[in-house]
Amino acid sequence: MSEQGKVHLVTGGSRGIGRSIALALASAGDVVYFNHYDPDDSAADETIGLLEDAGVEAFGQKFDVTDAGQVQAWVKEAFEAQGRIDNLINNAGITMDGLLVRMSPEQFNQVIQVNLVGVFYCTQAAAKLMMKQRFGSIVSLASIAGQIGNPGQANYAASKAGVIALTKTAAKELATRGVRVNAVAPGFIETDMVNTIPEKLQEAMKAMIPMGRAGQPEDVADVVAFLCSDAARYVTGQVIAINGGMMM
Ligand SMILES: NC(=O)c1ccc[n+]([C@@H]2O[C@H](COP(=O)([O-])OP(=O)(O)OC[C@H]3O[C@@H](n4cnc5c(N)ncnc54)[C@H](O)[C@@H]3O)[C@@H](O)[C@H]2O)c1
Repeated sequence: MSEQGKVHLVTGGSRGIGRSIALALASAGDVVYFNHYDPDDSAADETIGLLEDAGVEAFGQKFDVTDAGQVQAWVKEAFEAQGRIDNLINNAGITMDGLLVRMSPEQFNQVIQVNLVGVFYCTQAAAKLMMKQRFGSIVSLASIAGQIGNPGQANYAASKAGVIALTKTAAKELATRGVRVNAVAPGFIETDMVNTIPEKLQEAMKAMIPMGRAGQPEDVADVVAFLCSDAARYVTGQVIAINGGMMM
């Protein structure tokens, strides 16, 4: 690792927004550790190839962010191997949509586990080390659904509102230790996650965007990279909306 090389941890980095974040954050000489929970490693291998093409050392690993032991081991391994952790991006997330009155307890709990409890495990593990090194930036993926609600997403919206509250609390607790904690709240971003939504509903959602187009993963990644940069050195506890004007 070069002297300037930074170390970035990204959950859910195999594809979609997570992959774009890894690519936007890391420069040549940096190291990226990402995880995923895809059925196979094909997307993860592609991400590793893209990072290596950019001169970035990349380590991808498959594990579930709801497994606290695995999360702790992953963060510890990165810190012990590299001697620092500059950024943690809590990006892994899932949807299991359904109307409130039909939603099963499992459907509600699983989304809370991955999207909120997983963020807690990763944030706690990284925060302990960042507090000691006295620097670091943590950015979590919230959502417009966590800000204004969304029919069919009681579980998802609750998890993302939880991420916002967790972000603000962590920001207050870690501010004096040189660690900044922020969130981004994307609107409608074209990835595998929204491709499962019926075409007609996708068109209706796009029609609600003042900027007249869906967001791309890079639109989110660039804001995350800003939040992790020195340009955002006085920014903490914030939730930056990236939604083409869907909510103002
Ligand atoms: N796409 C959107 O419109 C949108 C909008 C707002 C917020 N978000 C949020 O952005 C984040 C990324 O979304 P995306 O659209 O890129 O999703 P995606 O489905 O394309 O990718 C999700 C990533 O998370 C990983 N993942 C899923 N469950 C996991 C688990 N239990 N443990 C570890 N990794 C797991 C997947 O393997 C994959 O790498 C999510 O938190 C999502 O809620 C997305």
